[in-house]
Amino acid sequence: MTLMKERKADHIEICISKDVEPGYYYWDDIKLMHEALPELNADDIDLSTTVLGKKLSFPFIVTAITGGFKDAKRINANIAEACAELGVGMGVGSQRAAIENIDKKSYSVIKDHDVPLVIGNVGAPQLVEQKKKKAFTEDMIGSAMDLIDADVMAIHLNFLQEMVQPEGDTNACGCLGAIRGLAKRYPIIVKETGAGISAKTAKRLSGIGIKGIDIAGMGGTSFSMVEMHRAIRKEDAVRASIGGSFFDWGIPAPVSLMTIGTDLPVIASGGIADGLHVAYSIALGACCAGSANLILQDAMVSADAVKERLTIIREGLKTAMMLTGSKDVAALKNADRVIVGRTKEWMDGL
Ligand SMILES: Cc1cc2nc3c(=O)[nH]c(=O)nc-3n(C[C@H](O)[C@H](O)[C@H](O)COP(=O)(O)O)c2cc1C
Repeated sequence: MTLMKERKADHIEICISKDVEPGYYYWDDIKLMHEALPELNADDIDLSTTVLGKKLSFPFIVTAITGGFKDAKRINANIAEACAELGVGMGVGSQRAAIENIDKKSYSVIKDHDVPLVIGNVGAPQLVEQKKKKAFTEDMIGSAMDLIDADVMAIHLNFLQEMVQPEGDTNACGCLGAIRGLAKRYPIIVKETGAGISAKTAKRLSGIGIKGIDIAGMGGTSFSMVEMHRAIRKEDAVRASIGGSFFDWGIPAPVSLMTIGTDLPVIASGGIADGLHVAYSIALGACCAGSANLILQDAMVSADAVKERLTIIREGLKTAMMLTGSKDVAALKNADRVIVGRTKEWMDGL
């Protein structure tokens, strides 16, 4: 197995077998004011919305998880079948393995399903030169999009992970310029991978032509913890220790969302666990929410398990809309909210 395939398999295996979350659930610090007299028929509530130009049945996407090794084909097929049936968006994991001709089928399998919003994925570190590795060209990014008929391409920012990883790509110089160049040719969004996006970073990303930002804030999957487990297995005490220290590094997802201050569409993710969390994120200004690890657990089982999970999320969202008197997604954006706990402390401390 190549190092890349081994790493991808490790990530999946660690995420389904170990606790990789920092342990405080920031989304639960958001509360929506109860409306005892909603004057709505629940059957008439409209959950549909348009995200990045595509109509979704409800405001949710399965964010980037995997691709590029044997089991990834089954995982992506299960997710794609469920997303197509339930009418939500889907991202594939980093397409580096496809660009480097290691494996393509585990990504292209999603074309067998009619997913309403398909998001490609490449890491920002691959857009600039790394030690002995050359940067990907813009044409390579275009081919990766063609491989899956992507509607948009997500460029992921994962320097927390790269710094903890024993074999990490740690040159971040030139990423912003490379993203600006790509955005002139392709529809691009920028996503974090579990550490959030600050207002300062969002400001630098606004105005370079990108179409949206996925905050992927802290509170859900911690790639510092994932890489800590890998480093322990490799008996790399230094990297394992760094991973442990940075287990909760980053901006809590709801704090990132509330402070980002951009006019671009914002996808809320990082620890989204149910439809109530989706409702909170919409009330805080997101265009939709997304989850990765939650869905991975079901995708390991079957497409039906993913469908059931998406149905639970949809019905939870609908319940929150009823109980806030929100007849549609636009109305939910105006729901009254209260912030408590550590999230309030973060907001007060800024
Ligand atoms: C097993 C696994 C692999 C992932 N691989 C990628 C990836 O290749 N590219 C990417 O942009 N994000 C990747 N992510 C990050 C997710 O897209 C997401 O931003 C992050 O996990 C936070 O969401 P969550 O708390 O719902 O898991 C991965 C997540 C998991 C769990």
